[in-house]
Amino acid sequence: MRFLLVLALGLVVVPVAAQDMPPAFKRCLPCHAIGEGATNKLGPELNGVVGRPAADAYGYSYSAAMLAAQVDGLEWTRQTLTQFLKRPKHLVVGTSMSFAGMTDRAEIDAIIDYLASFDSGGGRVVP
Ligand code: HEC
Repeated sequence: MRFLLVLALGLVVVPVAAQDMPPAFKRCLPCHAIGEGATNKLGPELNGVVGRPAADAYGYSYSAAMLAAQVDGLEWTRQTLTQFLKRPKHLVVGTSMSFAGMTDRAEIDAIIDYLASFDSGGGRVVP
């Protein structure tokens, strides 16, 4: 009975998280995970990244450039994330994030809204 309940909850929870994922976030998925149980992949896991200092995902091997940005006090806010997503290599010169950047402001905003909806444990902040 309990097993069936867990199974049923799992079936409900997973599609809900995926349902509101903005289409543009698909471009991040080859390298990044977010949500319950997200782990570091080619890039660091992004749970709770909005409000987190740069280079702060546990156990991830950041570039020297990103580590230096943390020392310089870079924190991921809506503003710095917008700059980073537009031109990663412009905000953090020498970053190992191989992503040219994106120009569509609505897509960037939708991605940041999505990122902001996960707390540091991968739970949803916004239902
Ligand atoms: C080709 C792989 C790749 C893609 C695609 C990619 N990233 Fe990254 N990302 C990385 C890597 C690698 C790093 C670590 C950079 C470093 O250490 O300099 C990173 C770092 C980041 C960071 C900084 C995290 C931290 O803990 O400081 C954010 C935020 C981020 N990526 C968001 C995104 C978003 C949003 C997208 C989609 C629009 C995206 N990335 C697409 C590989 C990628």
